[in-house]
Amino acid sequence: MYRPVYGLPGRTFIQRLLSKRARRAANRDFMFNILPKGGMVIEVGVFDGDFSERILAFNEPRHLHLVDPWSTKENGGLYDGPTQDFGSKDAANSALESQFQQVSRRFSGELAQGRLTMHRTLSYEAATLFPKSYFDWIYIDASHFYADVKRDLASFIPKLKPGGYITGDDYGRRGIWDHGVTRAVDEFVAAGQADTIRLHNHQFILRKPGF
Ligand SMILES: C[S@@+](CC[C@H](N)C(=O)[O-])C[C@H]1O[C@@H](n2cnc3c(N)ncnc32)[C@H](O)[C@@H]1O
Repeated sequence: MYRPVYGLPGRTFIQRLLSKRARRAANRDFMFNILPKGGMVIEVGVFDGDFSERILAFNEPRHLHLVDPWSTKENGGLYDGPTQDFGSKDAANSALESQFQQVSRRFSGELAQGRLTMHRTLSYEAATLFPKSYFDWIYIDASHFYADVKRDLASFIPKLKPGGYITGDDYGRRGIWDHGVTRAVDEFVAAGQADTIRLHNHQFILRKPGF
């Protein structure tokens, strides 16, 4: 299972490319042979920005939106499950605040150029910020529980252009979420909301019909 590590050491891009977590992000590079370059893109669930960095480097989006609350729930729990025990709600929020600051520094150049926007909010709240048929492709990697993935797919599909791609992580993994991603994605496809283009390395790539 994916065990997040909080905090970004001051590494160069090349060092990050070679790290274990970055190698995991690299398993997704095949997606960039399918996804159109130069488009409007959103990553929902960002964590420390390892995959965001690869999107910027290899897909060269016109604009990249990043969505993550970088905070705990009211009760101090993490939105994506008990992946790390911080001891207290304050300690958790302090770690997440520091992660938010690190991601902001990591992409300070793109933020300054107006190529990237960070939305410190929840997926389904962020979805309301965009007009219909806005994105060329969308990456869903927030909470992996079934009801949450189902809601994220339903919230974002209207925001995707016809013929655009809705994609995401952890398809085919059981995890603590008990195949939540797989079940929600399979239902979404079965309901005719999107066509399957590729399922590989635990990534799903679906295409919105109507193009
Ligand atoms: C698996 S990590 C994302 C990893 C990142 N996409 C990558 O590949 O490097 C999941 C992230 O989703 C965030 N998250 C959980 N529930 C969310 C929600 N409802 N909306 C937005 N982000 C959420 C968590 O805070 C966490 O940082």
